Amino acid sequence: MALLSVEDLVVRFRTREGTIHAVNGVTFELEEGERLGLVGESGCGKSVTNLAVIRLLPKPAGHIEGGRVIFDGQDLATLPESEIRGIRGRDIAMIFQDPMTSLNPVLTIREQMVETIQAHKKVSKDEAKVRAVELLAMVGIPKPADRLNDFPHQFSGGMRQRVMIAMALALEPKLLIADEPTTALDVTIQAQVLELLKNLTTDRNTALVLITHDLGVVAGMTQRINVMYAGFIVETATTADLFAKPSHPYTVGLLHSVPRVDAAEGEALIPIEGRPPDMRHAPTGCPFAPRCAWRIETCWTQNPALTSVREGEQVVLTGDRATHRISCHNPPTPEEAAAGLPQRPGFAAAPPPPGYVDELAGRIDSSIDSEAELQGIWREEGPISMGPSAGALPLPPVEERHNDGL
Ligand SMILES: Nc1ncnc2c1ncn2[C@@H]1O[C@H](COP(=O)(O)OP(=O)(O)OP(=O)(O)O)[C@@H](O)[C@H]1O
Ligand code: SF4
Ligand SMILES: [Mg+2]
Repeated sequence: MALLSVEDLVVRFRTREGTIHAVNGVTFELEEGERLGLVGESGCGKSVTNLAVIRLLPKPAGHIEGGRVIFDGQDLATLPESEIRGIRGRDIAMIFQDPMTSLNPVLTIREQMVETIQAHKKVSKDEAKVRAVELLAMVGIPKPADRLNDFPHQFSGGMRQRVMIAMALALEPKLLIADEPTTALDVTIQAQVLELLKNLTTDRNTALVLITHDLGVVAGMTQRINVMYAGFIVETATTADLFAKPSHPYTVGLLHSVPRVDAAEGEALIPIEGRPPDMRHAPTGCPFAPRCAWRIETCWTQNPALTSVREGEQVVLTGDRATHRISCHNPPTPEEAAAGLPQRPGFAAAPPPPGYVDELAGRIDSSIDSEAELQGIWREEGPISMGPSAGALPLPPVEERHNDGL
């Protein structure tokens, strides 16, 4: 059985501006120790997918509206909040882009690490401190015993992110979700932190979901990649297959829109024209259609299912034999993928059907008619529960902790 099995996950935000269709039926699995990359442009649902997995959706607007999240045999989507708190941090840890949002600026690293460790493990304060020193040493912080007494602002950005990794791995979680963990760092430090993350998760057989908008980052870090667009997975493959045979026009676009070391000399970059769709629209048709050079008439009206690139192949969801699948009515040929544009003589992308613009405007989901209705939806969700504490590991309430040594 897979460690994590996300089945047809649907996440919506009910806001004054309408319903945001953030995640629209996402399915994927992850084995123990497997490293998965989640890639796509800003707003495509990468963070929301994973916040839903650990039930940290921004409240009151964010809701899981469908699907299951089976982790270690339990459905996290329906588990009571008190049980989820025990799983977060202990079994699933998360690292965010900016460690300063997750580290408490007024507590020393020692206080935060000891608190995190003691919140989930029955150990004394001294034992937790010894473990904290070991962890800081493990992530390459010089003089770890001394640095333990420093405050977060006394560390450089790269060192802070190392501290975050140490805290995330403190409880030896089975799954680590790293959301753009190096975006805020400069390039050489990025490479060091990524290498560290890869080595530590490999050594401990920790499964990793690495979220990034940069395909280059996941190339050397992951075994499989899910490419997301507009709240859908549009291509999924092993990392090797995805780079050898990118098969969805969006992935092809991503690869051609950034400089690559393997690009032929003088090869021009091809930007992906246009913008991602407005997520207030209920998805109909292929969400990439307005930007796609390969679109045919059907694309405007039918959203293609995620299917194997090789017809009739039995679908394998995980591992190095995972099936390469795409959701596309008219995939590029390998030559077209290499060129970044359709090469078929006389081919032109299908124009939008008559009235498309008007129809699009009309499709904005106005299922919330009144402020009172919105307040009702929000009330059902209870109080705001965001605000990760030390190590991005939201702690149980004080009365549920094993120790109260701090
Ligand atoms: N608190 C919120 N309220 C309303 N909509 C939200 C909220 N948080 C996210 N969304 C919407 O959900 C969609 C998915 O957002 P998400 O944060 O998952 O994107 P992302 O792929 O992680 O992007 P980025 O690369 O910028 O981090 C977006 O359309 C976003 O506007
Ligand atoms: S060819 Fe059609 S289905 Fe495929 S990505 Fe383009 S618009 Fe979508
Ligand atoms: Mg994000």
